[in-house]
Amino acid sequence: MCVVLKQLEKDAVKSFRSQFGIPPTHLVVAPGRVNLMGEHIDYHGGCVLPAAIAKYTLMAARPASGKRGDVATFYTKNLNQTAHISLSDIPKFRHGDWRNYITGVLAGFSKTSVMNRGFDAAIVSNIPIGAGLSSSAALEVATATLLESLTGFQLKPLDKALLCQQAEHQFAGVPCGIMDQFTCIYGQENRLIFLDCHSQDHTYVPLPDAELQLLVMNSMVQHELASSEYAIRKKECAAALTKLNAISWRDVSQEHLQANRTRLSESEMRRARHVVSEIERTQKMVNALQAGDLEMIARLMHASHISLRDDFQVSCKELDLLVDIAEEISPVGGIFGSRMTGGGFGGCTVSLVQRENAEKIMGQISSRYQAQTRIQPDGFITPLTAGARMLPLSPVSS
Ligand code: GLA
Repeated sequence: MCVVLKQLEKDAVKSFRSQFGIPPTHLVVAPGRVNLMGEHIDYHGGCVLPAAIAKYTLMAARPASGKRGDVATFYTKNLNQTAHISLSDIPKFRHGDWRNYITGVLAGFSKTSVMNRGFDAAIVSNIPIGAGLSSSAALEVATATLLESLTGFQLKPLDKALLCQQAEHQFAGVPCGIMDQFTCIYGQENRLIFLDCHSQDHTYVPLPDAELQLLVMNSMVQHELASSEYAIRKKECAAALTKLNAISWRDVSQEHLQANRTRLSESEMRRARHVVSEIERTQKMVNALQAGDLEMIARLMHASHISLRDDFQVSCKELDLLVDIAEEISPVGGIFGSRMTGGGFGGCTVSLVQRENAEKIMGQISSRYQAQTRIQPDGFITPLTAGARMLPLSPVSS
């Protein structure tokens, strides 16, 4: 097993013990994700191409005894904060912080299964918050997986993803698509997920070459716009779709868009151009991966970033700089494409890099980015990993 995960397991168990004074009896993990292609497409019913990564949120837990029988207590080591949530009276309001995600999942889970016994849980995570790597989906999915473990009631994987998405909609107020929660649950080692967000069918696609790896560069900036602009994009696209007289973006071709361009405002046209072209690019990306066409992969990633920057307008100068530096290094230096990943307005880029040069490339990007921004980026090379699951508690760790 991955060394990082092993260490986090120990941290979770240790954190539980020091907070609650006894060893935990349950342990679960949920990964973060990157998306290789199909950005801002999941909530338009298109296809996306994400993968779970080696960044994780873990929860160690134990059923409570005595008076606190109906209270779930969550302690987060990263924030050094504790939340007490009554299971017989789950709050319906938004807390405005990390508790939203947990409360939302508790509320959803309580509709499908009886939760009549309180518990204590310690959370540890190495997924950076607000970096576009789905730390919130991992928190939701870890909570749902923990509830499955504690109650013995297993949700169907798709129901679990939908429940977690609802938690985000209703308790965090973000009208997100299904990609993040789905990836966090359905992730598989060494595979990207080709997910049709309309039918929710999926297949798995490997990287074309064992010599390729994903390099994630965290710009370390996070612009406030992220969640407000997300909802705005969703509304703009809905308005454009109506004006295009279409029910689904999947039915809008480039030709139809061009023929109807006068019906759209300039910004609606930009949004529409991104959605239509990104839906096409995702299918082309799958073909290119299957054909091992590295030149095409790099070209598609470049086009996707430009479209997100200029048409969907969800990038920022720091992400653009990371992509520019990666493109300067180019296939000659071992990079086969780079683009922003996730919601945007800060966060991370994802690049496909040659394994043997990966560390060197990360160093080159870091130093050039730091020289121009005075910000130290956080880069990591990640395998594609398995989705959320319960973990055995080894006698040593408990
Ligand atoms: C966020 C949302 C996802 C998706 C991406 C953009 O991560 O949670 O549903 O829309 O942004 O692709």
